[in-house]
Amino acid sequence: MSTLAERAEQELNAILAQYAAGEAEVVRAFFARPRSRDELADMVRRQMGREVFCVGWLERAVRQGRELERTVDRHAFVELLEQIADELRHYALLADLVEWLLGRQLTAEEAREYEVYAVYDPDVPLERQYNPRLPEANAMIDLLRELRARYPTAFTDAVMRLTEGGGGGAFQEASGLAGDEFRERFARAMGRIVEDEIEHGPLRVRGFVQQWIRDEADLALAKELLRTFMAQHLRVRNEIYGSPLSAERLAAIDRGEITPWALPTPPSEVPA
Ligand SMILES: [Fe+2]
Ligand SMILES: [Fe+2]
Repeated sequence: MSTLAERAEQELNAILAQYAAGEAEVVRAFFARPRSRDELADMVRRQMGREVFCVGWLERAVRQGRELERTVDRHAFVELLEQIADELRHYALLADLVEWLLGRQLTAEEAREYEVYAVYDPDVPLERQYNPRLPEANAMIDLLRELRARYPTAFTDAVMRLTEGGGGGAFQEASGLAGDEFRERFARAMGRIVEDEIEHGPLRVRGFVQQWIRDEADLALAKELLRTFMAQHLRVRNEIYGSPLSAERLAAIDRGEITPWALPTPPSEVPA
């Protein structure tokens, strides 16, 4: 008989695995046909936009730094600084790749053209979080705002964190690309990003369950929120890649018509 915690971890991971497979399919569909240099550059620049927005968190880091050991926990503070560094490193890797592809430097405007908040930030004015070029990314911000107002905010935010990187499927799929020099360089960059994103997303499930799942009602709400967020995250991924999947195919993935992704297992789960 499995405990509530074990079942919760399994059921939440199953939702991540369904949608991570969907995100991998977006990447495969994009690379299924030849792409122009501009299409490739735009795709990478849209991914850059979801990494570089974290530079805005530096303002939070400064505020929290002043409060360190008073209202701010030292470990939570280190985690914030590490995540800012991780995301900016992802941004820099991808920006260097686009410059290689174009054979010239990006202007500041081009580098940040698709900047958009990947996580709703209640401390930042909404107009700074949206990007008019990215309707699905904006819809994600609206969805999170709406759900964290309707349900317990900290719980909703904790579920949202599990969706980071969309289960890692897109990054993992991209890290296996080969066939030409762009694909190989993109694969190397995505291979370096994927490890961070898996830590930022799927590997947080166990800790989430321990902290937040007390009973069946908690689990039911977590599953409903996770499904809703992941469904929108898949649309965001599709938008980054120039929408290679149709609305019909996205709906089929929502219904589970897809082979689930093999999620990485946390170290303690590896059988002896
Ligand atoms: Fe990232
Ligand atoms: Fe991340």
